[in-house]
Amino acid sequence: MQSTRRNFLKFLGIAAVKIPTCTSLISLQSCSSNSKLPSFEDDVVLTEGLSYYPIISWGDKINQKEVFGFNNDYIDTHQLSANKLIMWVNHEYAHPLFVSGIERTKEHVDIERSQVGGSLIQVDYDGSKWKFNSKSEFNRGVRGDTPIPFANDIKVLDSNTAIGTIANCAGGKTPWNTFLTCEENYDNNYGERDPNTGQVTKSRLSWEKFYPHPPEHYGWVVEIEPKTGASKKHINLGRFAHECATCIISKENKVCVYTGDDKNDEFIYKFISSSHNNFDNGVLYAADTKNGKWLPLDLELSPILKTHFKDHVDLMINSRKAAKILGATPQNRPEDIEIHPETGDVYVALTNNKPKGDFHGQILKISEKDNNHSSLEFKSEVFVMGGELAAISCPDNLVFDKNGNLWVTTDISGKAIGNETYKKFGNNGLFVIPTKGPNIGQVIQVASAPIEAEFTGPKFSPDQQTLFLSVQHPGEKTKDLSKPTSNWPTGHLPKPTVIAITGEFLKKLTT
Ligand code: FEO
Ligand code: CA
Ligand code: CA
Ligand code: CA
Repeated sequence: MQSTRRNFLKFLGIAAVKIPTCTSLISLQSCSSNSKLPSFEDDVVLTEGLSYYPIISWGDKINQKEVFGFNNDYIDTHQLSANKLIMWVNHEYAHPLFVSGIERTKEHVDIERSQVGGSLIQVDYDGSKWKFNSKSEFNRGVRGDTPIPFANDIKVLDSNTAIGTIANCAGGKTPWNTFLTCEENYDNNYGERDPNTGQVTKSRLSWEKFYPHPPEHYGWVVEIEPKTGASKKHINLGRFAHECATCIISKENKVCVYTGDDKNDEFIYKFISSSHNNFDNGVLYAADTKNGKWLPLDLELSPILKTHFKDHVDLMINSRKAAKILGATPQNRPEDIEIHPETGDVYVALTNNKPKGDFHGQILKISEKDNNHSSLEFKSEVFVMGGELAAISCPDNLVFDKNGNLWVTTDISGKAIGNETYKKFGNNGLFVIPTKGPNIGQVIQVASAPIEAEFTGPKFSPDQQTLFLSVQHPGEKTKDLSKPTSNWPTGHLPKPTVIAITGEFLKKLTT
């Protein structure tokens, strides 16, 4: 135990800090890192050696006509120079009470459409902090009302253009340095077509009442050009509740994209392009994790699909149905996916599956055959099992630092935080897990989110001395704006905000 503790302190790099004596492995985590964590406080509570500052909040003006949208999620960056970045930030959804009002008129829906999708903003480092540059020519939104063509002029229900991108959850970056933003729970805005009756179900937000766009125009991966905001929706990566789109070039020089479908009992997918620099041709596969095989959603490679789908576009629109027909393995809500920078192993957050009795989720590790990402065979194993022992529940977003430590954010739903099952985990958090060495698999909490919030979109600055992080939906259970359940970050109404986390702790892990 003593050597475990020593190694742990060495890992933290804070052996000199006076730390209370720990008597068990479980207590080691909480008392060594910070007795303030987990927490129910209405703040971003950080472990010793870290601090934070806000960069931009919902409602801040980004140009003459647009504001920074609601519920910031995925963050990615494009480097303009050593101290200047174009930052892409997803705006997953608009909470009507805060954004527009709960009535469902066209005016209310119009406001919501203008504050979801994503923002491109410039952030500059001034020698001590990253700051939003409100004067930048690059500041613009790609929103719920922006016309977006389908890639390669493909028509989806007779139109080669969709109106808007919505439900933008996580994303990815292409090897050619464009951003990918993923449309997840689009059915909240435009409903979903019932495959049996052909009827569209009613959505939660009733956007279809004023804008009867087909649900088939949503649920795609959208590519964004960082400097211009030019965008397109990719049919070949499939249609479902896309969480993320994580790209890597395989040993065969093909770009591979890992993407999960965040719904109970849906699937993990991988697109293998025929090329290293586009998604124009290739095959989408679904994972059979029982047998370690990737199953092709392709009319020629899986001829059984010909009796169900009239062409490739029809097959892609109905990716879920096709994956089921092929026998893909149902998963417990695949969320973010990241690739280990040293081993090439693919880590998948499976957040939970409550109807199946999985309340805490797990992190799955996929090792492709011969470490080749365009291989059609793989092995998989559980890397971390969520729950009391690991002191983590409902893993969601992932990011690796350059030393191969896995950073994880959690998403215990607002109504579940603090209840019987989840009380011991406190508010949602940010965690770091070594993937090698004596502390492999040990979960260390480094931050706790404000009330009812979730941390999303972790992204390191190029020098890894700063972690950009979205604080999404603080106070989301508020029913009355005069009595918000959270006052973060200003002491008044809660505001989704992008923050920067810095400090000695981060420095020691990433240098
Ligand atoms: Fe938008 Fe699956 O989280
Ligand atoms: Ca997520
Ligand atoms: Ca990620
Ligand atoms: Ca989630």
